Amino acid sequence: MAECQVPINTHALQYGTGCFEGIRAYWNGQRLNLLLAAEHFRRLYRNAQLLLMKPPSADEMLELAKELLRRNNPTHNVYVRPLVYKKGTSLGPVLLGVPDGFLCYVQPLGDYLDTSKGLSVCVSSWRRVSDNALPTRTKATGGYLNSALAKSEAVQNGFDEAIFLNDRGQVCEGSAENIFIVRDGALHTPDRTADILEGITRRAVLALAEDLGIPALERPIARSELYMADEIFLVGTGCQVSWVSAVDRRAVGDGKRGSITARIQKGYEDAVYGRDPRYAAWLTPV
Ligand SMILES: Cc1ncc(COP(=O)(O)O)c(C=O)c1O
Repeated sequence: MAECQVPINTHALQYGTGCFEGIRAYWNGQRLNLLLAAEHFRRLYRNAQLLLMKPPSADEMLELAKELLRRNNPTHNVYVRPLVYKKGTSLGPVLLGVPDGFLCYVQPLGDYLDTSKGLSVCVSSWRRVSDNALPTRTKATGGYLNSALAKSEAVQNGFDEAIFLNDRGQVCEGSAENIFIVRDGALHTPDRTADILEGITRRAVLALAEDLGIPALERPIARSELYMADEIFLVGTGCQVSWVSAVDRRAVGDGKRGSITARIQKGYEDAVYGRDPRYAAWLTPV
């Protein structure tokens, strides 16, 4: 890491012109498995193209990540961070004609949010950037200033995490997580036109719910539904499945972890550690 350098006038540093992925690899005591790796690199490839960049192919990026992991040879859970970015040094916020770069690094990662207790979250005073301003589905580096403002405000006010509303005032997502609420025994999550990142964990949780026989709906969610929900949990590569105990200091349900949340958490954990053969295809051995 100490030998890696980028020039201070790098386009991506100056203008936020990059897009990244976050991928977990789980150590199950015997081997390291990347989780949903092909999906992450396909998303990165498509996102980079949308941002007028030319990344290596999804297969090439996956092979590079595996090689990186083999050389580091960790025996604990890690986080892999690939980045496609504008590595040119020209002045001016334009995407055309600026050379592209690709990098990838790995670091140890335990819990991203504290999963031992329920999270206390707030509705952010910052709105999610709209798809027509900066498509959040691209995981663009510059867009994370929006997340950073919301998360910082939440922490300054004593909360664990922020929930964004989008510019239509509907529930959107956390600063780095998708959101699910439980009402009357069914899961509800904002649909893909709600200015969310189309999370890979979100999709995995929808698949788990289907297999568990839990009904799930993707639909617009109103702010006040957060205060009416029986259960709420956040999902993402980083936070995995983290439950929410309070929104704006109002208890969610009875303030304890709900039974549907517990079933999803267990299903997810069994899948990522390779304990449930039904989800073996989610794992790429390193
Ligand atoms: C804004 C945002 N939403 C949702 C997620 C969850 O996405 P995934 O499950 O693909 O990690 C992330 C992940 O970092 C994110 O940054």
